[in-house]
Amino acid sequence: MNDLIEKINKLKKEKNAVVLAHCYQNIEIDEVADFVGDSLYLSKAAKDTNADIIVFAGVSFMAETAKLLSPDKKVLLPRPEAGCFMANMIDINSLKEFKAKYNNLPVVCYVNSTAEIKAESDICCTSSNAVKIVEKLKCSEVLFVPDTYLGKWVEQKLKGVKVHTYNGFCPTHLRVLPEDIENARKKYPNAKILSHPECHQNVTAASDFTGSTKEIMDYVRNSNHKEFVISTEKGVYDRLKRDYKDKTFYMIKDDLVCKNMKWNTLEDIYYSLLNETTEIKLDEQIMHKAKRSIERMFEKE
Ligand code: 13P
Ligand code: SF4
Repeated sequence: MNDLIEKINKLKKEKNAVVLAHCYQNIEIDEVADFVGDSLYLSKAAKDTNADIIVFAGVSFMAETAKLLSPDKKVLLPRPEAGCFMANMIDINSLKEFKAKYNNLPVVCYVNSTAEIKAESDICCTSSNAVKIVEKLKCSEVLFVPDTYLGKWVEQKLKGVKVHTYNGFCPTHLRVLPEDIENARKKYPNAKILSHPECHQNVTAASDFTGSTKEIMDYVRNSNHKEFVISTEKGVYDRLKRDYKDKTFYMIKDDLVCKNMKWNTLEDIYYSLLNETTEIKLDEQIMHKAKRSIERMFEKE
C-alpha cells in the first residue's frame, strides 16, 4: 500500500494534479487526498484549485460538478460506473412534468443530480446549505428535486415555505428505520444520535442532531459528549473513529454503506492518474446552464 501511495503522490507532483475525496470513500484514499470532505467543501475545492488535473474520488455527479466549476481542467473519475442511485431517479422528462404540474415554480436542485437536471433547475444546493439557499430565495413555494427527504427536512426547518418534493431518495440512508433509533437509545443511553437529512423524517425527528456530513463531524468536534451513534454512511463513522480516539462511536446498523462510493481503490486512483482516465466530458450547452445553477448557489452562500 505504501508503495502505491508513493507512486500516486509522485504522479500528482509530475502532473500538477489533486485528489478530492468524499468522506464516504474507503478510508485509505485519504492517504493520497489533498482535500477530504463533504459535497460542498469539495465543490469549493474544485472551484479554487490551480491544479491541471482533478481526480475525483467520489461518484459521478461530484466529478461532473467539479467539471462544471473548472471547465478548463481535466476531471477524472477513476471508476466511471460509480453513479448515485438518487441522482439517477430523475430524468429530464420527469423533471419537466414535475415543473408543469406545479406551474413552473422555482426549482431547487440537490447537488446529487446529473448536469442535465442542474441545467433545468434554477438553483443548486448541497445538504450543508439547503435550508439557507431555500430561505434566501424568499419564495413561499418551491420545487425540490430529487431527494424528497432533504426537501421535507428543509420545509420543516423553514416553517412557512411550502416545499413540493420530487419522489427520489437515497437507498442507503433510507435503510435506517425509526426502530433502529429506538433500539440504539436503549442500547447506548449515554450516546447522542446523529443523522443525515437524507434519512426518513421519522428518523431525523427521533435523532438528537441532524446535519450534513460536515455538520455531523463539526458536532462531534465541538461536543463534550463521549459517545455517539452515527446514522449516516459508514465512511463518516470510520473517519470519526480514526480522528477522535477519546470518543466512542457506534454505527446505527451494520453495513450502512453506499456501494457506489466504495468502488474506488488506491489502485484505481493510480491508474486513473497514470492513464488520465476516465475523463468527464459534458455537452457545452448543458454545461453552461448547469454551471449557472451552481454559481447562484455560491452567490447565496
Ligand atoms: P453531503 O456530502 O452533502 O453530506 O451529502 C451526502 C451524500 O449522500 C453524498 O452523496
Ligand atoms: Fe447517492 Fe445515497 Fe450514495 Fe450519496 S449515499 S452517493 S445519495 S446513493
